[in-house]
Amino acid sequence: MGRRELPLAADAGPIEAFADALRRLRVRAGTPSYRLLARKAGYSASALSAAASGAALPSLDVALAYAGACGGRRDEWEARWRVASAALALPGPTTPPAAAPGPPTRPGTNDDSTNADSADYGVAGDGEAGAVFRPLTSEDPRQAGAYRLRARIGVGGMGRVYLAYTPGGRALAVKVVRPELAEDTEFRRRFQREVAAARRVHGLFTAQVLDADTDGSQPWLATAYVPAPSLAEAIGSHGPLPVESMWLLVAGLAEAMQTVQAAGLVHRDLKPSNVLLAIDGPRLIDFGIARASDATQLTRTGIRIGSPQFMAPEHVLGKPLNFAADIFALGGLIGYAATGRGPFGDGVDAAVLYRVVHEEPELADVPGPLRELATACLDKDPGRRPDLARIIETCRTRSGATSLKVTGTWLPAAHTGLIRRRAAAVPPDQARRT
Ligand SMILES: Nc1ncnc2c1ncn2[C@@H]1O[C@H](COP(=O)(O)OP(=O)(O)OP(=O)(O)O)[C@@H](O)[C@H]1O
Ligand SMILES: [Mg+2]
Repeated sequence: MGRRELPLAADAGPIEAFADALRRLRVRAGTPSYRLLARKAGYSASALSAAASGAALPSLDVALAYAGACGGRRDEWEARWRVASAALALPGPTTPPAAAPGPPTRPGTNDDSTNADSADYGVAGDGEAGAVFRPLTSEDPRQAGAYRLRARIGVGGMGRVYLAYTPGGRALAVKVVRPELAEDTEFRRRFQREVAAARRVHGLFTAQVLDADTDGSQPWLATAYVPAPSLAEAIGSHGPLPVESMWLLVAGLAEAMQTVQAAGLVHRDLKPSNVLLAIDGPRLIDFGIARASDATQLTRTGIRIGSPQFMAPEHVLGKPLNFAADIFALGGLIGYAATGRGPFGDGVDAAVLYRVVHEEPELADVPGPLRELATACLDKDPGRRPDLARIIETCRTRSGATSLKVTGTWLPAAHTGLIRRRAAAVPPDQARRT
């Protein structure tokens, strides 16, 4: 296993280890005052300092707000929180995690782990990042169009993702846009346009957009549910991938990106939480729709959507974007998946964005031939980055195979175990009865 950014002390329990990681993140961000963090995070300074005190596991919302205000990556911290939460829930998956330290002060948010129903539901014995489905709380919508929402799958900058079923019983991931964004006229205009474009993407390696409501009071988007952990979760739980898996990951992603490109789209937000690791190869999700949130009132006032670590320099500088921006992000993903760390590091957004534009990527720990490919993808000049066909061909030749083949063992055993447990996870009974 490669290096982890914040290794857990051998004798630390999950709560103390999580708090320790939060404290270290704050130090890496230059030790901002809790008052400053509170302003950025939208939670009181006391809620944030309690989160890092180690007295209890903070709610997911508080933890993400704390980490986000210190420049931590949402997907990474959600995965980390899930690991701690699932560890607390051991030995059985239905034991609720410890209560959160005091109520958050941010209006309209939901303090998950104070809720008595906030147990994590994976499958029995899944004691890692196994919190697949969480029961709906009073703050969650029950319906999106004709779809009854059954359980919560995850939370991102744009909204929350829920499990639902088609009338024929196929599982869907329904992303319900957060209310603040839904009220933003510019967001809505772009969301309508981008969802229409994303519906044109048809491919085996992308999660198909199946339905959407971009006009209603609570916009939503339904895609095919992929029973797989995200790359962020897999790397967060079981560490970086070996080179053999990396060639298949990169070639598979490049193939998925070809479908997005063929539809005339730029993904714009290719990052570890938007890659799902399925047993038959990687799947790309959330293509195109990140554009809806660019330059909205909310992103201007500090709500983070997208991830600076994987943003191309031309994107950071507000220049026109083409598909080469996604190639840059792919280069960042190569570094992340091979080492557990993005090539432009962590920290406050401004520092990461500065490094993206002005500094060379940190790829020293990436194994040789992969490093060459990542370096080429991360060229500051979009015109010099390789195209997708060349990337796939490089993966094939460098892997030493006459042809690439994804089999059920394309990932190391620990990661495969995570995928299998994920595929076997069932939503909470309580939600099924509704
Ligand atoms: N189609 C899907 N199938 C299975 N899981 C999904 C699907 N779509 C989303 N998810 C899960 O929901 C989580 C949250 O997704 P979401 O896109 O809201 O967050 P994000 O990618 O971290 O942030 P952002 O809002 O910036 O995209 C993902 O990490 C993934 O685990
Ligand atoms: Mg996403």
